[in-house]
Amino acid sequence: MASLKLSAPSSQWIAGERPLCQRRCVLKAPSRRVAAGPIMAGSYTDELVQTAKSIASPGRGILAIDESNATCGKRLASIGLENTETNRQAYRQLLLTTPSLGEYISGAILFEETLYQSTTDGKKFVDCLREEKIMPGIKVDKGLVPLPGSNNESWCQGLDGLASRCAEYYKQGARFAKWRTVASIPCGPSALAVKEAAWGLARYAAIAQDNGLVPIVEPEILLDGDHPIERTLEVAEKVWAEVFYYLAENNVVFEGILLKPSMVTPGAEHKARASPETIAKYTLKMLNRRVPPAVPGIMFLSGGQSEMEATLNLNAMNQGPNPWHVSFSYARALQNSVLKTWQGRPENVEAAQKALLVRAKANSLAQLGRYSAEGENDEAKAGMFQKGYTY
Ligand code: 13P
Repeated sequence: MASLKLSAPSSQWIAGERPLCQRRCVLKAPSRRVAAGPIMAGSYTDELVQTAKSIASPGRGILAIDESNATCGKRLASIGLENTETNRQAYRQLLLTTPSLGEYISGAILFEETLYQSTTDGKKFVDCLREEKIMPGIKVDKGLVPLPGSNNESWCQGLDGLASRCAEYYKQGARFAKWRTVASIPCGPSALAVKEAAWGLARYAAIAQDNGLVPIVEPEILLDGDHPIERTLEVAEKVWAEVFYYLAENNVVFEGILLKPSMVTPGAEHKARASPETIAKYTLKMLNRRVPPAVPGIMFLSGGQSEMEATLNLNAMNQGPNPWHVSFSYARALQNSVLKTWQGRPENVEAAQKALLVRAKANSLAQLGRYSAEGENDEAKAGMFQKGYTY
């Protein structure tokens, strides 16, 4: 059996109608080595499907707290705290020990440091999550760097050593992963940047699945720019078409992935704002055109929208049936009020946990299409967009 080369046209990859598991083996290793051992490819498939389904369960979504140490430092600085390991641990402990969080939250994306941390009483964070039936997840990308030859765009690092890192994270209790790359509309995006983003996401997704982690696929289309919503739609369609092309080329099992798209909105500096109904219409149009119904869940990022906007937009998308679970994986739109309430003071922990539950419940209702913004406070209405924001 001849081994296939990455440069081969896609028609050759699917020639011969071999079953998926055999094709993956051929891509993984030359035939001499395959003959010596058992066929391992696809050994996690059933578990991946189960994990993805449990994360995409009715009325629940993801709490994203996977900020790198540097980005967590920005969060802490906003309330005047120093960026030390003790402060990062205290903040994550507040979030991850919130009583009854699992009613509204099905998964929590952690940064590597947090995955290995415990509460001050010595209980592993991973165990706190498991008790609430929340799946622990892990950010596995290594961040964005400039993409040479592009129009000031970036690419996402992290494929080197990814398989062994994923295997270690699985042993530590992680069951899903996240890789965030970005596309910038004011910078193009160039064909090179889109291809690189899509290929990187697909390689990561295949490696994560091979090691038992459900990959969250996140090509964030940044809010920056003064373009109209139609332009965002056009770019999002292009990006997702390419992402799915390469996911298929890499034999990624669609039933065992989750997506983390940006909502289709006008650029943050566009002259007119769009209503939640318009954003829902454009976003669902894009998803229906590009995302196969086999994908179990669409877990949106908030991208600098206010807490209330992010919830209202999600609610508008759940006014009718969708082929996938349409939910949230917010970082900023779940953490803003919590941080403001906490202020780094132990006596405010309980109130801050209540603030987290308020946001989590609001988004849970939005996932079910039953949210009303009545009674929301000014904090929830405050926009969080920052031009050129980096994670
Ligand atoms: P935001 O909701 O802050 O845009 O989070 C994006 C993200 O990727 C965090 O995991």
